[in-house]
Amino acid sequence: MTKAIYPGSFDPITYGHLDIIERATTIFDEVIVAVTQNLTKTPVFTIEERLNHISESTKDYDRVKVGCFSGLLVDFARQENATVVIRGLRAVSDFEYELQMALMNRRLREEIVTVFLMPNEKFTYLNSSIVREIAGHGGDISNFVPSMVDEQLKIKFKIT
Ligand code: COA
Repeated sequence: MTKAIYPGSFDPITYGHLDIIERATTIFDEVIVAVTQNLTKTPVFTIEERLNHISESTKDYDRVKVGCFSGLLVDFARQENATVVIRGLRAVSDFEYELQMALMNRRLREEIVTVFLMPNEKFTYLNSSIVREIAGHGGDISNFVPSMVDEQLKIKFKIT
């Protein structure tokens, strides 16, 4: 059985992430969507809230499991008995950072294989902070995030 981990901060999960998750389920037997705290970012949602959004948004996918970790991704992968890491590549600008992470993760644990998947081009300009920013200004984000996330962002930003 091939298990893959899709790590990220998912603050919040967007249709772009879900596109990658769906593609990954066509390749791997089990896809663990793993939420972690990116120490360089100040989150809007707690880890528990994010886990809840992801579980709700992926409930129709049998092969998807949701989890969280702190510390190194390679240690979490070992704990889960997984060697594959999935990363999305949206544009050339993602490449340098992704290459560095992939090579460093491989250096830290030789068996780790990073697989890059490209989302549908309509999501290439999407990231979580742009969604948060639009939501914070009361803009319409319904084309970018599942309805549950849309509602929760409105609550966070006290938008009626
Ligand atoms: N659709 C929409 N948005 C996407 C996307 C997609 N397909 N793919 C990425 N994004 C967005 C993310 O939402 C994120 O947005 P934000 O910066 O506005 O929050 C942005 O693109 C960057 O995503 P990503 O590179 O996945 O960052 P991240 O913070 O979500 O994840 C970790 C980085 C958590 C995977 C990485 O820091 C990590 O592995 N940490 C664990 C510690 C560790 O092992 N460090 C050593 C690594 S070598």
